[in-house]
Amino acid sequence: MSRVPLSSGDPIADRRFAHARDYAARGEPGAAAEVAEQALERVPGWAPGWFLLGEFREAEDAREAAVAAFERAAALDPEDRCGAGPRLARLGARPAPTTLPPAHVRDLFDAYAPRFERSLVDRLGYRGPELVATAIEAVAGERRFGRGLDIGCGTGLMARALAGRVARLDGVDLAPTMVTIARASGLYGEVVVGDAASELERRPSGSLDLVTAADVFCYVGDFRAITTATARALAPGGLFGFTVEAGGAGDELRLVDSLRFTHGRGYIAAALTAAGLDLAHLAEGTLRRDRDQDIPAFVVVAARP
Ligand SMILES: C[S@@+](CC[C@H](N)C(=O)[O-])C[C@H]1O[C@@H](n2cnc3c(N)ncnc32)[C@H](O)[C@@H]1O
Repeated sequence: MSRVPLSSGDPIADRRFAHARDYAARGEPGAAAEVAEQALERVPGWAPGWFLLGEFREAEDAREAAVAAFERAAALDPEDRCGAGPRLARLGARPAPTTLPPAHVRDLFDAYAPRFERSLVDRLGYRGPELVATAIEAVAGERRFGRGLDIGCGTGLMARALAGRVARLDGVDLAPTMVTIARASGLYGEVVVGDAASELERRPSGSLDLVTAADVFCYVGDFRAITTATARALAPGGLFGFTVEAGGAGDELRLVDSLRFTHGRGYIAAALTAAGLDLAHLAEGTLRRDRDQDIPAFVVVAARP
């Protein structure tokens, strides 16, 4: 997944960055870093260039130089669209964050959107929506829902997995290109670009019967604002189905090497209790494959009493 815009606005610097990427792709990160440094002499204010340099330095195990480059990228872009902050945390240069920069998640999925389904479903065996739909069926049987909201809806795979079980399902996602694809699917009522917690807070209290979030919380990290907002937006008896990347039994929220979060069972239980939701179902499953490894998930359904 490319996270970095390709153009700095300076054609000569861009050519140098292209050479640097070629070196990196050939397994020569040291040479890539040297060429990137030459390019940065022309565009010293271009945050993505410093981020790339950080990646090359990290790849050649030059930790201090990587930290310096990522710090420069972070300082130049307060929104942190490249995600330098999480890289610095992974290198031990900053405390672990409790969330990823929203602008970074948005750009990541905007770039990924056109090949999201092909890459995730076909190549990586992604099953998030199917796991959530099966868990909802285990709790609710054949029940049909009136109003639903799919948070972090992406291209609309969750709507497909729910297969007409919701009379009107709306969607919200940070990434505009994902939203364009979800809208084109014709499976949703309204799909808006925005943050999940804000969209839930905008909804009248008790107005939803179902909320879903398939494979979203590994990017959100601390999801307690979302459980609280969901509890308020759900009608009594309403359900909230979601997956997380599985942590352990405890209350840990951990940023792992993949730069996604895992959640422990204790974290989930505490978040639901604090929001006033009941845990109706928690199963284990496999979310997808990543770098030849199965990614284990907790699949959860919570209910508003
Ligand atoms: C791995 S994709 C999953 C998409 C979809 N739920 C599915 O299962 O196919 C994660 C999606 O969550 C969205 N996302 C992450 N954090 C979000 C937030 N705070 N608010 C809204 N969307 C968010 C991303 O933009 C991305 O489209």
